[in-house]
Amino acid sequence: MQLPRVLLSVFLVCLAVTDNAKINPIITEEKLLWIGGNAGEVHTYRIPLLTFTTRGSLLAFAEARKTSSGDMVAKFIALRRSTDKGATWSPTSFLLNDGIHTDGSNLGSVVVDEDTGAVMLIYSICFYNYHCSPASTMLVESLDDGLTWSTPRNLSVQLGVKSFIPGPGFGIQKRLPPAKGRLVVCGHGSIEGDGVFCILSDDHGRTWRNGAALKSIPYNQPKQSLDFNPDECQPVELEDGSIAVNVRNQNNYHCRCRMVVRSLDGGETLPVEELVFDHTLVDPVVAAGALQKAGVLYFTNPANSHLRVNLTLRWSLTDGRSWENEILQIWEGPSGYSSITSLKGDYTEDRKHIFVIYEKGRRDYCESVSFAKINLYGGI
Ligand SMILES: *[C@@H]1O[C@H](CO)[C@@H](O)[C@H](O)[C@H]1NC(C)=O
Ligand SMILES: *[C@@H]1O[C@H](CO)[C@@H](O)[C@H](O)[C@H]1NC(C)=O
Repeated sequence: MQLPRVLLSVFLVCLAVTDNAKINPIITEEKLLWIGGNAGEVHTYRIPLLTFTTRGSLLAFAEARKTSSGDMVAKFIALRRSTDKGATWSPTSFLLNDGIHTDGSNLGSVVVDEDTGAVMLIYSICFYNYHCSPASTMLVESLDDGLTWSTPRNLSVQLGVKSFIPGPGFGIQKRLPPAKGRLVVCGHGSIEGDGVFCILSDDHGRTWRNGAALKSIPYNQPKQSLDFNPDECQPVELEDGSIAVNVRNQNNYHCRCRMVVRSLDGGETLPVEELVFDHTLVDPVVAAGALQKAGVLYFTNPANSHLRVNLTLRWSLTDGRSWENEILQIWEGPSGYSSITSLKGDYTEDRKHIFVIYEKGRRDYCESVSFAKINLYGGI
């Protein structure tokens, strides 16, 4: 149908307004992707990850902990897939199965190579060295939009043996210099070698090497309250090509808030001169979500200095130097780990939305994993 000219121009004006409109986010859809305790084989779903794919799908992952909610239990890695921007989801499939191995898979970072379309899930096995040795960093890959997955590849062969859990969250592909095209995945170590570490690939995930490290103090030694102990983390690329890593402040060093450290060289180093404590981002010591989209930096966590409650979305128009006063409260009650993604298409629909996955409950944050679709412009 041919639109009358005057209608068409009204339509185009509306689009332009949408682009520059003030951010005023609302949740337009929410769905519980996983509920613990009801599936027989799974006790608790935790550590949710969410990613876009280059074909415009969404993939959600979580640890499906078989016998308890604890970190050190046998798990499946659960996957659901949406090809309609989060409206409907495939049934759960189990990507990996630890069997009865109690120190099995730990998530993890998902990273998409936008040049090849490959989706890579990087995770750890035997992280705690509990009745097993050594810890290994593993990778599985999908080349068909998340439908089928490779057998696990052992990255420790290239990286060396180390207890390292990526993320949890996503790894990035540098879109700007320096090191355009590089895959950067950051995570944390165990007491032996704790701190934040990044691994890098300059050949679309074929080979990996060790990059930046921000070591804890005292290094390699048990920590006390208030020691410097950077832990789980989420990297994002800022508008100037630097990488900001938003970090869990495990022992509440300096504040009950997030640490943010920047890499100016594509993840090779995390200089201590680039470390700040973001007092606005009050945090109960948890894995948080961050995303850079169209010049706006988004952040999710349970915004409370002591308790994992009150999952909150914040946004910054200044690459995190300051945060807007408005917030979106996503869930007032118990809420834990979270991760954010968005689709990269040129569709207005994709420009307007971000997606948040998070641990959500009524009495306890690990009762379920929820997916929220957020319209950034209040439904305009
Ligand atoms: C992974 O590779 C490392 C280094 O070669 C090795 O020590 C470890 O046993 C391997 N892990 C697995 C699960 O094969
Ligand atoms: C949730 O966090 C926001 C932002 O810090 C705060 O304004 C609000 O009072 C908090 N609500 C609860 C119930 O903790």
